Amino acid sequence: MKDFGKDFVWGCATAAFQIEGAAHENGKGASVWDMMCRIPGKVKNGDNGEVACDHFHRYKEDIGMMKEMGIPAYRFSVSWPRVIPTGVGQVSEAGLDFYDRLVDELIGANITPYVTLFHWDFPYDLFIRGGWLNPDSSKWFADYTQVVVDRIGDRVKHWMTHNEPQCFLGIGHRMGKHAPGLELDWPEFLLATHNALLAHGRSVQVLRNKLGKSAEIGWAVVGNGTIPSVETPVAIEAARSAMFEVKEKSFWPISWYLDPVVFGKYPEDGLKVFEKDMPNFDPDDLKIISQDIDYIGLNIYNSDTVSPTEDGGWVKDKPIVGLPLTKFNCPVTPEALYWSPKFIYERYNKPIIISENGCSCHDWVSMDGKVHDPSRIDFLHRYLNNYKRASLEGVDTKAYFQWSLMDNFEWSEGYCERFGLIHVDFQTGKRTLKDSAYWYRDVIANNGADI
Ligand code: FCB
Repeated sequence: MKDFGKDFVWGCATAAFQIEGAAHENGKGASVWDMMCRIPGKVKNGDNGEVACDHFHRYKEDIGMMKEMGIPAYRFSVSWPRVIPTGVGQVSEAGLDFYDRLVDELIGANITPYVTLFHWDFPYDLFIRGGWLNPDSSKWFADYTQVVVDRIGDRVKHWMTHNEPQCFLGIGHRMGKHAPGLELDWPEFLLATHNALLAHGRSVQVLRNKLGKSAEIGWAVVGNGTIPSVETPVAIEAARSAMFEVKEKSFWPISWYLDPVVFGKYPEDGLKVFEKDMPNFDPDDLKIISQDIDYIGLNIYNSDTVSPTEDGGWVKDKPIVGLPLTKFNCPVTPEALYWSPKFIYERYNKPIIISENGCSCHDWVSMDGKVHDPSRIDFLHRYLNNYKRASLEGVDTKAYFQWSLMDNFEWSEGYCERFGLIHVDFQTGKRTLKDSAYWYRDVIANNGADI
């Protein structure tokens, strides 16, 4: 049986705000998510990140569990306001110490750290100063990157700048559903987006200056793509166009974020669509934005299915009746992990990392003390099966990170959605490995040969 190849990396992912807690420890600054949590109605049940999984205090126990599961790599994020409480200026040595200890503990357990610099917990004090709309925002992010890489860059070789620009910009700055809860009009939204892209570029420059070619640097975008309704050349072509086209004003199209980063230009069709909404910017910005990156991280949960139309276009299919849904009501579409990496690889010619993939289920501790989550096992199995197909057909697949190592704070859903391989009792903090954790341990042990 073929496996994923000898250099393939298996891991789990988390993000600082979702697991750390210790919200005020050692003068940690607030983030826009702390602000969001105190606005009534923004987060289910009024939940917040004050304690979360208390990972800040329990990281050794959590790493012990990763060891038990045989996890070779761990993707986590650094909290910007933990490291620099007001976002710029005074650095918190105690905050940096936490990531120092975390990295050492991981390496001691033979687990390779993959660090994400920005997974949505933007410093509150910088939001007050205009956040991503401020012309200095990309420099703030570069300075923060410098602080982090100076401290842990001797041991961390795998880096991601932003996590899911579509979400923190689109859902956070246009829909108002995520922090900072803004509903900007397109011109301001596009300016914030441009500045965030510039921040990515400057951050890559800082990392590269410090670490050179020894570092592997990328970022993680929403990689939910499109699946052809049938595997004919015409339907595949329709799905491919649907994945990259910008045919109306929307913050989702992946090309809007990846084209500037990889090709150094915004997609032509998008520029036509947004026309007068586009900000004025220095053309050199695109040179900064398009620093050479080593891979593209894709967070993939599901895809739309599309069909070709008679006039050579495409149309989104209606969901089939009775389509399986996760607890979060997301469609289960395993082929997403074949088509999306394939289309992205063909267009951008960069190695692919699945930086997130997983599902929430109705998990609880059973009478036998275990957590039985057969639907998560089935979900991961089906998705991995498709990822393997992509890999065997020549897509340069470097890694797979399951979301998530443990149940955690699911943003506006609070603690209602459980995505973990580890069950967390949020009353007591008790951790329990779910059945899927043992299943994943076996998948890792044979490098996916049985998938
Ligand atoms: C992604 C986020 C991650 C988590 C999963 C379920 O959009 O990057 O933090 O919330 O969804």
